[in-house]
Amino acid sequence: MLCNMQTVCSNKQILFNHLFKNNNNTRSSFKNCRFNGFMSSKKAHEVTVLNEISCLLYDTGYVTHFVDIGDGKGYLSSLLALNNQIQVLGIDSSHTKTQSSVHRTNLLERKWNGFIKDQTKRKMPENKKKTLYKQVTHFVTENTDFEKLVLDNLSSDTSKVGLLGLHTCGNLGASSIKIFIKNPKMSALCNVSCCYHFLTENDENNLEEYYFPLSKFLSEKNFKLGRNARMLAAQSLERILHKSEEPNTTNFYRAILQVFLKKHNFRHFNIGRIKSKCCSFEEYARTALKKTNLNISDNELRSMYELYEGDQNAFIAFYLLRCYLAPAIESLILLDRLMYLNENGIKESYLVQLFDPIMSPRCYGLVALKKIG
Ligand SMILES: C[S@@+](CC[C@H](N)C(=O)[O-])C[C@H]1O[C@@H](n2cnc3c(N)ncnc32)[C@H](O)[C@@H]1O
Repeated sequence: MLCNMQTVCSNKQILFNHLFKNNNNTRSSFKNCRFNGFMSSKKAHEVTVLNEISCLLYDTGYVTHFVDIGDGKGYLSSLLALNNQIQVLGIDSSHTKTQSSVHRTNLLERKWNGFIKDQTKRKMPENKKKTLYKQVTHFVTENTDFEKLVLDNLSSDTSKVGLLGLHTCGNLGASSIKIFIKNPKMSALCNVSCCYHFLTENDENNLEEYYFPLSKFLSEKNFKLGRNARMLAAQSLERILHKSEEPNTTNFYRAILQVFLKKHNFRHFNIGRIKSKCCSFEEYARTALKKTNLNISDNELRSMYELYEGDQNAFIAFYLLRCYLAPAIESLILLDRLMYLNENGIKESYLVQLFDPIMSPRCYGLVALKKIG
């Protein structure tokens, strides 16, 4: 599919060595930090890696500042500003998230020196506080005027924008790539996608703008994945193989319930996520069916379970086989994006494993560079 397979790197260090050959990164990492209460160990792992690559982009002059789209609570942006004194504009469509980021960053600023053992290195000058990281609420599209947003919110030299996105959900990952290509002042892209459930596919009637496929290569083939495949793409084979996410009985209960719903003509009933752990199929079904007015006896539920009980091993085998397809589907989505970057003349574009897949299953990043000014 790709003309140059070198653009797919299995390891971030290979990419860093290739892109930043002569840079001796002297920036401090967060290894000595205790972020207890401020982020989970998973998030700390992710922001540590993205902090490293962002600093390399900044120190080598590729970028003058960053825009973090889908900034959320500002886990990454706040650390880039506080630890490295780099300007960041965080944009999120959710006002609640923006407010939460402002609140969180204020708290983090106050506690900052306590997090850092070697305080002399990273102490933030008082006058710089609150000016380096700004948050705005805005629903980002390809038509967003980033230049204005940056000028309105950040100060000093903002000529080369680094576009960051950590776990960009829905269409935001693909949209980031279009935004990067379209904006002449954006010189670097680092994007890690999230789930693909809400990725809009080409429906052929072109009723809605679509974000898969992006590349001419797949578009010309009218390539389609469908919802089931997109949902499957977010399954973590690594976690399952690592036994931290064994196929559990809930999935089996859910399958039996589907047969039951079909029997009662509830074909499109949305169960949603059931948070509590259920000890039996009866308990699972009762919790799941709360929203319906189906009147079912325990006997009926029990006999339904007994009918399929013997198929559990076959179900688990099927579940695992299906999960083996997940990496292939995710690769296809990400390679399509890489291909699109290539087709649009962005030759310095790379797909690289950035995170530990057991710690953080959505672990692949698209990194791209443009030479400007
Ligand atoms: C999975 S969260 C990730 C948040 C953050 N980057 C992190 O790693 O914790 C994705 C975020 O993207 C935001 N988002 C989704 N689509 C967006 C859009 N078109 N414009 C701006 N924000 C968007 C959501 O509100 C959400 O906060």
